[in-house]
Amino acid sequence: MSFKCNLRFFLKSVFLTVSLSSISSLSASASSADIKKTVSSPWWKEAIFYEIYIRSFNDSDGDGVGDLNGITNKLDYLKSLGVDAVLLTPHYASPNIDSGYDVSDYRNVMKEYGSLSDFDRLIAEMKKRDMRLMIDIVVNHTSDQHPWFVESSKSKDNYYRDFYIWREGKEEAPPTTDKSSFGGSMWELSRKTGQYYFHTFSKHQPDLNWCNENVKQAVYRDIKFWLDKGVAGLRFDAIADFVKPYDTVDQFRKYKSETVEKVVDPKVHAYVKELNKKVFSGRDIATAAEVWRTPSEEVSLFTDPKRKELNFAFIFDAIFVGRKSVWEAKPWSLIDLKSAIGHVDKITGKNGWSAFFLTNHDNARQISHFGNDTPEWRNVSAKALATLNLTQRATPFIYQGDEIGMTNSSFPDINSFDDVQLKGYWTDLVDTRKVDAEYFMKNARMTNRDNSRTPFQWSPEHNAGFSTGTPWFKVNDNYKEINVSSQIDDPKSVYNYYKSLIAIRKSSPALIHGKYRDLDPGNVKVYAYTRSLKDEKYLVLINMSESNVRYLIPKNIKLKKIIIQNLDNPDFSESHVSLKPWQASIYKI
Ligand code: GLC
Repeated sequence: MSFKCNLRFFLKSVFLTVSLSSISSLSASASSADIKKTVSSPWWKEAIFYEIYIRSFNDSDGDGVGDLNGITNKLDYLKSLGVDAVLLTPHYASPNIDSGYDVSDYRNVMKEYGSLSDFDRLIAEMKKRDMRLMIDIVVNHTSDQHPWFVESSKSKDNYYRDFYIWREGKEEAPPTTDKSSFGGSMWELSRKTGQYYFHTFSKHQPDLNWCNENVKQAVYRDIKFWLDKGVAGLRFDAIADFVKPYDTVDQFRKYKSETVEKVVDPKVHAYVKELNKKVFSGRDIATAAEVWRTPSEEVSLFTDPKRKELNFAFIFDAIFVGRKSVWEAKPWSLIDLKSAIGHVDKITGKNGWSAFFLTNHDNARQISHFGNDTPEWRNVSAKALATLNLTQRATPFIYQGDEIGMTNSSFPDINSFDDVQLKGYWTDLVDTRKVDAEYFMKNARMTNRDNSRTPFQWSPEHNAGFSTGTPWFKVNDNYKEINVSSQIDDPKSVYNYYKSLIAIRKSSPALIHGKYRDLDPGNVKVYAYTRSLKDEKYLVLINMSESNVRYLIPKNIKLKKIIIQNLDNPDFSESHVSLKPWQASIYKI
């Protein structure tokens, strides 16, 4: 039998093995030396994380809103996918102006989500399954209904006044003319005292004053409350905003302009160091920074282990490919995506670690942004993106629904959106006629975060099996075609491809820790990279286009065997691989 025939035979058997999702036989087909654990590493580098947007995951009590018991009921689903840790969007008491990112009580659970005992049960059930919970720490700001703010607003000289940032206006106008991240001024007048308070986000989210020692101490106590319950991870929301450059108008401009990247004030790092010392030290937890539009060189200051700040960061360079601003899209090419991913790998590879994700609760669906969500290419491109997600030197964060290929939803008009941010932009840009309504809507449909917030699609039944009541938000029209129950037993489903890839990643130290090398940064169709750790080496080839591509293998690379691929296409030789549209393959080399 020729080399090619041998490979054809081998490929066919491996593809079938993987597509049947029988990981034990996959492992058996790879030699055990391939998958031996060779690196000692903290758990959070090797874990597969799964982000849950609570409101839309699973409703256990029929009120139309997802809840904690709904998550507990689905832990076996997550465990069987291979998930080790869950990141929850905020679960705290909140008037819910910004999806819980407006906390009114840090020590309680949002009523619609359940109770403290439901939270305890969730942790206990996760522990039974050897899973960990990461929560979102939203302490850049509170809700305007938080008792601290209610007290703070009452007079100029109460204990809580200085918990927030209050300034006099300038001749009946706000202290500066700058805009908040959610549109409108950054300052809101409070009639009771005639002063303005500062808010980075909506006016219902006043910023805490981190210069105040009492604020810090109160926040430390609130975080410890959850850590003592067994929480194993903390995501610090909007961390770069903890220090407000509110005194210099020029600095403000630079800081807020949508296209200019933010510079992190060194005081932020001092705060984080203190948090590390006073709150995290001695606990085996994962800590992460959420940082938008901060140059990634600066982000690595948070994650450099020598600095004793945080473990890793959520960096948005890749997600920002194809975006002019938060709401406006722009054409992009694969070269841009590779360059963003490569840059982050280089930076955090040197100094720390990062999370890998191509979407989250603040972004459009990954398949609609980076793949092709039309029925013809949906499944294969979802699997291609899964391959990309799970072969990076970073901790993968799967966003709920990606594992079944959920897509962007349909939004006929501005009223069909729920998002406070988008509505703020509409008021600022469309109501003032700076931007044409149709142009705005065209972009919002592509970029808006509501795309990722529609109810989870569990089944083709009523409300996609998400709720027996009326869902708080419209279910995506495609739920009959895209849902868990039609995929779980289908060996060729997106779900089972994720499951296989997760198992492969977990058993391959090189795919987790190995060096990343982009083989062909200028190729506009194929993403080709290697991951290598000592003798364990892989080539990942992803055709991110709708064309057939004959890809030439560099002379110094010898393909030994195929580990997994998303299409049954065994056509390769020593010198080239014929890639079908959206084909993704991982080879042992
Ligand atoms: C973060 C959250 C986002 C929220 C904002 C304000 O960026 O991810 O959802 O709106 O902070 O808290």
